[in-house]
Amino acid sequence: MQTPKTIAIANAKGGAGKTITAVTLAGYLHTLGSTVLFDGDESEGAIKWAKRGGEDFPFGVLPASRYHEWQRGSFTYTLFDTHPSVEDVETAASIADLVIIPAVPDGTDTDGLLLTIATLQRVQCKNFKVLLTRVPSYATKAAADLREGLQAMGVNVFTAQIPRLDVFGKAATQGLVVNQLHNKTASRAWEAYVALGKEILA
Ligand SMILES: Nc1ncnc2c1ncn2[C@@H]1O[C@H](COP(=O)(O)OP(=O)(O)OP(=O)(O)O)[C@@H](O)[C@H]1O
Ligand SMILES: [Mg+2]
Repeated sequence: MQTPKTIAIANAKGGAGKTITAVTLAGYLHTLGSTVLFDGDESEGAIKWAKRGGEDFPFGVLPASRYHEWQRGSFTYTLFDTHPSVEDVETAASIADLVIIPAVPDGTDTDGLLLTIATLQRVQCKNFKVLLTRVPSYATKAAADLREGLQAMGVNVFTAQIPRLDVFGKAATQGLVVNQLHNKTASRAWEAYVALGKEILA
């Protein structure tokens, strides 16, 4: 398949790590080519994040209502963050050539994940893939079990997975992408999304 240029991050379950994934992945893709992130969530988490950083924030974040003005623009990569709802999962499938589903390996998140997958299958989305996120060091077994279970259902799962690290929240609070924080944990956090980006572009 061709390299995806329009990527939506979706999960009907709230708090799965969509906004962290959208901003950090966009941050990585922006190091490779011009990138814009559209925020489709009315709570505007990504827009507010970028505003907190002001001039230090590295790429443009716009409300999704402005997508039609920009879609013929000169961006190499276009990303969408979405609201946690079935409707937004459907929208993601209709606009993106890759839908990433961030999923936390926790039993309470499984129903929302399965609903998201069923929705994408129902609208015949051809290219979606699960990203295991917020994986605590004590839950690598839970993550491996979820990966295996999804694969047994024929669902694609990224090899890259995102560890649970408080530094992601710190970057969000400061209005920065995590690679703009210079410490060991921030490097680990960034490298996880670099691995994801490389896997997407491979
Ligand atoms: N890898 C991670 N490690 C630690 N905390 C994380 C990680 N990813 C996300 N979080 C935290 O989990 C919470 C939810 O993350 P985020 O806002 O990205 O989820 P979301 O899916 O966009 O939520 P919503 O559905 O409300 O928009 C935030 O407090 C965020 O800082
Ligand atoms: Mg969000």
